[in-house]
Amino acid sequence: MPPETIPSLLEPETFAHGVPHDVFKQLRDECPVYWNPGRPARERAVGIVEPEQRGFWVVTRHADVTAVSKNSELFSSERGTAINADMRPQDLDMFRQQMIHMDPPRHIALRSSINDFFKPKTIRKLDGRVRELTREIVDGVAKRGECDFVNDIAAELPLLVLAEMLGVPREERRILFDWTNRLMGLDDPDYGNPYDAQAALMELFQYSAQLANARKEDPRDDLMSVLVNAELDGRKLEYMEINMMFFLMVIAGNETTRNALSGGIRALCDFPDQRARLIEDPLLIKPAVEEIVRWHSPVMQFRRTATRDTEIAGQAIAEDDKVVIYYGSANRDERVFERADEFDVGRHPNPHLGFGVGNHFCLGANLARSEMQIMLGEILTRIPDFEIAGPVEQMHSNFIHGIKRMPIRFTAN
Ligand code: HEM
Repeated sequence: MPPETIPSLLEPETFAHGVPHDVFKQLRDECPVYWNPGRPARERAVGIVEPEQRGFWVVTRHADVTAVSKNSELFSSERGTAINADMRPQDLDMFRQQMIHMDPPRHIALRSSINDFFKPKTIRKLDGRVRELTREIVDGVAKRGECDFVNDIAAELPLLVLAEMLGVPREERRILFDWTNRLMGLDDPDYGNPYDAQAALMELFQYSAQLANARKEDPRDDLMSVLVNAELDGRKLEYMEINMMFFLMVIAGNETTRNALSGGIRALCDFPDQRARLIEDPLLIKPAVEEIVRWHSPVMQFRRTATRDTEIAGQAIAEDDKVVIYYGSANRDERVFERADEFDVGRHPNPHLGFGVGNHFCLGANLARSEMQIMLGEILTRIPDFEIAGPVEQMHSNFIHGIKRMPIRFTAN
């Protein structure tokens, strides 16, 4: 496949049937920093015009993704945000109030204000509760002998945990699910459209502001109480800053883990020998979770913007160019991983980049790991003979490696 036949990595349809691993392999081998053309402005829906999308550099090798991620002075998350899409100026200003779209020193100051909440020691304290919630979810389906793994199991655990963590009442957790789908699935006709994504964001902000007011008056042991008391540059956070952090947590802590769990179960169905190994030796659960994050790579890419003329692996990059780092490609890089195309639950070492690397390394990685280890252990004990029982439906997105539906069946108990 010569580079001119590489499909556009901007178009969600390119990922509609899964990640095109053959394309990424070719790029890693032949053109590791590749120019993906942009597209002109277009009307997405009546009255909603998507601005012109500039072309961007596609960074595919592990070493280069790492180097870009670790150099925020040269490759900024703030200048054009960490999202590939070019935004209208007013949207850009709003997004820059969110931690993931900041550079040091603002980024470090804000991250430090909530870091304690995500430290291994704090997360370990939640383990007992995560176990209870996991049992409750699996109990809810075990007698049925079949379910939609995505909606009935994978979506439920991160939602229940996130709701408790943020201070959202349990019975309202499905609102978080709904907002995430409408915001992240805006390219997927099953989930949303640009009007609806805007409406979802307004609903989310309103909800967050109300919750913040409630916690100002009556602080509890949750993240919203931490946020309303957090200090940045000697002042309390403004409503918009709190709303943007709430928005980030809802999105980042929810569908990433959902898709990692779904991708993991799918891999264990595709590689029955690895499932048997895991059932035989439960001590492999920890490396298996790392391998699932490598294999599925739930977040396909994030973007940086060059702050001055530079180069990556010999390719000249101009100031203001968009540089998009592909974690899923880095995670299959044969230069780093032996048998990169094999799913190996005992893989060691496994220096995958599924949670990113550098300043913005996933703040929720400890939580995601704990949820995945506990849920996987429970599934392999309670319903170990699960198998895929119908079509697996992929989300149309150029950003999230999403699974929308995955029917499974198993022996009821
Ligand atoms: C398997 C599940 C997950 C995956 C694959 C994942 C992936 C990632 C990646 C790749 C980044 C780096 C972004 C960048 O460099 O620009 C990131 C950042 C982040 N993640 Fe996760 N994530 C997961 C779960 C979670 C959870 C459960 C939470 C919170 C409850 C969370 C919160 C965050 C936050 C707040 C950031 C931004 C950190 C910063 O800007 O300093 N993530 N995640």
